[in-house]
Amino acid sequence: MSAQTDAEWWRHAVVYQVYPRSFADGDGDGTGDIRGMIERLPYLADLGVDALWLNPWFRSPLHDGGYDVADYFSIEPRFGSVDDAMEFIEKAHDHGLRVLVDLVPNHTSSEHEWFREALAAAPGSESRDRYIFRPGRGPDGDEPPSDWKAVFGGPSWTRVHDGDWYLHLFDVTQPDLNWEHPEVRSEFCDILRFWLDRGVDGFRVDVAHGLVKDTTFPDLGNRGPRLLDSERALDHPYWDRDGVHEIIREWRAVLDEYDGRMMVAEAWVHADRLPLYLRSDEYHQSFNFDLLEAKWDAAEFRAVIAKSLAAADAVGAPSTWVLSNHDVVRHATRYGLPAAVPWRRWVTDGPHDALDRDLGLRRARAAALILLSLPGSAYVYQGEELGLPEVHDLPDEVLDDPTWERSGHLRRGRDGCRVPIPWATSGPSYGFGAGDPWLPQPEEFGRLSVEAQEGDPSSLLSLYRSVLALRRRLFGVPNDLEMLELGDDVLAYRRGRILVVANMGSDPIPLPEGEVLLSSGPSPDGELASDVATWVQETA
Ligand code: GLC
Repeated sequence: MSAQTDAEWWRHAVVYQVYPRSFADGDGDGTGDIRGMIERLPYLADLGVDALWLNPWFRSPLHDGGYDVADYFSIEPRFGSVDDAMEFIEKAHDHGLRVLVDLVPNHTSSEHEWFREALAAAPGSESRDRYIFRPGRGPDGDEPPSDWKAVFGGPSWTRVHDGDWYLHLFDVTQPDLNWEHPEVRSEFCDILRFWLDRGVDGFRVDVAHGLVKDTTFPDLGNRGPRLLDSERALDHPYWDRDGVHEIIREWRAVLDEYDGRMMVAEAWVHADRLPLYLRSDEYHQSFNFDLLEAKWDAAEFRAVIAKSLAAADAVGAPSTWVLSNHDVVRHATRYGLPAAVPWRRWVTDGPHDALDRDLGLRRARAAALILLSLPGSAYVYQGEELGLPEVHDLPDEVLDDPTWERSGHLRRGRDGCRVPIPWATSGPSYGFGAGDPWLPQPEEFGRLSVEAQEGDPSSLLSLYRSVLALRRRLFGVPNDLEMLELGDDVLAYRRGRILVVANMGSDPIPLPEGEVLLSSGPSPDGELASDVATWVQETA
């Protein structure tokens, strides 16, 4: 298979998200690694995706799964070395797969040499100025400079030995960088060049709407620390501030020195602000989490699709579609929960017996036909092609997400979607590696493994393969979509001569006329059963 040659490959790419720690363990230490990833490249190429996005693989104490980078120019030894990374990139390219890596610019790890240097230096020193250190409030300076709370829970300021406080919007081990400092700015251009020179095809940029802070540090009162502020974000003291665009333009200029590279933003901003990030000298695309947030409901899906396409059209950027990632409850589980249960709280609060696994899986099958037939690019999270569930019952003592500790054990966090991938029906860690995996896998993972699904034409894995192969053949660019009205509970649209129809209601509906190319479930007698989707080719 050869790489697509067009420089704008990202406009219609299917990007597979690899969480290196949980993908494949080549050396048997229980943690995934680059060796394991290299061995599994043929699987990814056969699946039929176009590109891979790797969660952070840089040197890191892994206090936040690698989003705490200690050195952006080297690889975490548990994952491998820079040489391994280069071998991976080269071999991925040989398989026709492009590679995106994760850029984490809002904060470093507290083990980054800059932060160590800052701690060793005096308050007010140059070294401290690369981060956001401030004296505290109150007569003894023992109150934090502002009331800001950290995303993972607790205050976002921590006091150091000499009385100064530093800002960390996430974990205490993730100090925020000061983006007004010229050295921070130039360092990140060097980081981009370092990885571009080693062949990466682009970057997924973490917390892309963060970076710039209001350094008067106004109190936020009751406004929560969520990534998307529920009030209009314009005057938020650290999310989506106008100053961030100048930084993005600097990065874009670096990318433009190379051919065919791209950046995708993880920007949790309000819809009316998103186009600003997609101007022609800024990001190539941004994640669009609206489909992920939508309930299994035809009207919601229709509204999200129409709104997303209109927004994308307005700026000439392709829309992107995501159903799952390493931060949210897996959709095979979400779709099996009653509509009234808020899935974000479900892992901690339950009710766990309200989950209907079969329903979730049936809908996940239909969702694959929707996700991969929408115009623009799609992101597939490792294991979604196997229908892996959220593992909500991990024992407390293995929980690793900082959310668990920082919330005072009130929120269990995101580990349940990060459990290592089962490759084999049995054996140690179901083929993930030779050792005990860093998170235990439930028994049902054997049944859901790649080995179990590979030879079974009715499996979800086989369905993903068929969908991806057909997508390549049927849906090129340009990205037209005509929404059709086939009933309240039906999501239906036309792309060229292909009709995509999903029955999201509880009664069967008549199947549109034409040749059925693919169906997510059995559909007897010219009917489309409930929670089943199909692709039909219209007869002229
Ligand atoms: C992003 C990542 C998440 C991480 C956070 C802090 O939201 O997706 O996993 O914890 O940023 O870097």
